[in-house]
Amino acid sequence: MAKQVSMNHAVELIQSGFPVGMPTETVYGLAARIDQDQALKKIFNYKKRPLFDPLIVHIAEIEQAQKLAKNWDSATQILANKFWPGPLTLVIEKSNLVSDLISSGLTTVGIRWPGHKLAQQLILEAGIPLAAPSANRFGKTSPTKIEHVLTEFTDLPELGVLDGGPCQGGIESTIVKINETADPQKFQLSLLRKGLISSDQIESSLKSEGLDITWVQASGIQAPGQIKHHYMPAIPLIINRRRQKNSYSLSSEIEKRLLEMPTHIDEVELIRPRFPITRIKEINFSLDPELAARELYSELRRSSEDNQAQILLWQQPENLSGFLWDSILERLEKAASLILE
Ligand code: TXA
Ligand code: MG
Repeated sequence: MAKQVSMNHAVELIQSGFPVGMPTETVYGLAARIDQDQALKKIFNYKKRPLFDPLIVHIAEIEQAQKLAKNWDSATQILANKFWPGPLTLVIEKSNLVSDLISSGLTTVGIRWPGHKLAQQLILEAGIPLAAPSANRFGKTSPTKIEHVLTEFTDLPELGVLDGGPCQGGIESTIVKINETADPQKFQLSLLRKGLISSDQIESSLKSEGLDITWVQASGIQAPGQIKHHYMPAIPLIINRRRQKNSYSLSSEIEKRLLEMPTHIDEVELIRPRFPITRIKEINFSLDPELAARELYSELRRSSEDNQAQILLWQQPENLSGFLWDSILERLEKAASLILE
């Protein structure tokens, strides 16, 4: 089983090329030094993550970020100043310090300065930026407590994890791709993943510095957000948007539709319940989106650990509005095996 380690031990592990479980203000990450392919490969192996999914590089001082960038343009500078340390990942053209393993062969790199003190300390003491995806097996629910990481990797005794307490944010960083144009005052932005910082906040901080911003749909590479299934709990999650509540006819429709589903989508295994379905566990989240975000993943994990439950059912309340609910819903929709509209 993975084990809790001290900061000194974590720094030694990083320096000798091993991944470490690292708390951040969003979710726990699985961090490794960016300058050793063997260390980076271990991240993919531990997570069972396909190599086509690029990693975010975590830094703890602005110079580290600048060295990873091909050009450090004004939009990048303004957003870094305004939102770092914090839950915003900037995707920009990379320098040759960023290996193809990190960027999955793309010309860009995602960079973020995490807000958690222990993450900052680990990066500074290791003396090197750390690539870190969320510390969960590929396609599964992200971890927001050390216990989540330890139980996710029970088969990896060599994995050390720092305990940073429960994550305050609870959902992953917002990811924005910054595209330069011929005009140095004009930028095209793409929102690759919704998160704790809104596109309006990003846009207004750039416009207030006199930049001209347009939002464009990302083309080509897919953010994880665009992988159809992600964040999946151990038993299937069903979202019900109908007025019709938990009932016999609803259960039999859910059972019929789950039986018809493929076993895999986008390389992620779809979890199948025990059939016939007799135990449906209803799951609830706070109506306060900040609390809902913070509790989202631990609630999905806790509920699916109920030995009796075969599926989770979330009766989606009407009128959930605002960017934070959009970010939460983006995740729940990918975590769901089935959405009843
Ligand atoms: O809050 C977070 O961002 C957490 C913590 C640990 O920092 N990290 C995280 O990493 O969520 P991960 O790997 O689970 O999700 C990052 C996603 C990748 O799946 C990838 O699709 C996208 O970021 N990404 C990374 N680099 C990219 C790039 N160069 N272009 C487009 N997308 C990129
Ligand atoms: Mg992830």
